[in-house]
Amino acid sequence: MRVITTIKEMQIEILKKKAEYKSVGFVPTMGFLHEGHLTLINKARQENDVVVLSIFVNPLQFGPSEDFTTYPRDFERDRALAESEKVDYLFYPAVKEMYPHALSNTVIVQERTDVLCGRSRPGHFDGVATVLTKLFNIVMPTRAYFGKKDAQQVAVVDGLVKDFNFPIQIIPVDIVREEDGLAKSSRNVNLLPEERLQAAVLYRSLKAAEAAILEGERSPAKIKNSIHQTIAAESNAFVDYIEILSYPELKTLEELNGTIIIALAVKFTNVRLIDNLILEL
Ligand code: PAF
Repeated sequence: MRVITTIKEMQIEILKKKAEYKSVGFVPTMGFLHEGHLTLINKARQENDVVVLSIFVNPLQFGPSEDFTTYPRDFERDRALAESEKVDYLFYPAVKEMYPHALSNTVIVQERTDVLCGRSRPGHFDGVATVLTKLFNIVMPTRAYFGKKDAQQVAVVDGLVKDFNFPIQIIPVDIVREEDGLAKSSRNVNLLPEERLQAAVLYRSLKAAEAAILEGERSPAKIKNSIHQTIAAESNAFVDYIEILSYPELKTLEELNGTIIIALAVKFTNVRLIDNLILEL
């Protein structure tokens, strides 16, 4: 595995591989790798000749009151994990390399941002779309892998690639969960011990909602209410949102049918967690 820190070197290496008609699988991350990331890397490894992993905590996608400085980082651990997962190139640029000066152009996401995390994180998806536009031009992947845990991100990236005609296939990958159902996340380390136990209620409440829907419940309001009550009864978490929308359009539904997403975000003492279920009705 080679660690590359400059954009120029990364592009030269990839262009060499492309000249040999090699397919390139790309896993963009902000590091502090967990099993969810390793699943993405594994899938990229199976489906491509060359695998590139990027680690870059992107300041552009953090709001002024968000956790950019406290976002967990451990490069040596990540490097060892990437090596053992047979990554070919680990792209690890500094902020100065990616943003040497204030950008004169940024990507603004026009749709799907006024719901879910977009509503409480203004500008977040613009930052994601901007850094991914740069990363796609640097890594030039054949396929790029994203976890479905951030289902809104998958929907936004899908729109980005279609709108700007990036010749890249976006591969959404299922959520990886802990034994008690908590979705794996780099941020889980910031849960207090009792909160870590309580956090399993998120998936439990989503599964209970799924069961109610499968038994015929079709009222989004009733389902959201029962998820809220379960979370309030079994944890100290503050519910940021619980939403049921069409997927991937992310439009509000009066009645449930088609492909839907039940998504939620809650705040614990030092961390905000998200989770979702996508259902075909
Ligand atoms: O999902 C993430 O970790 C980030 O949003 C991404 C896609 C790496 C862009 O910075």
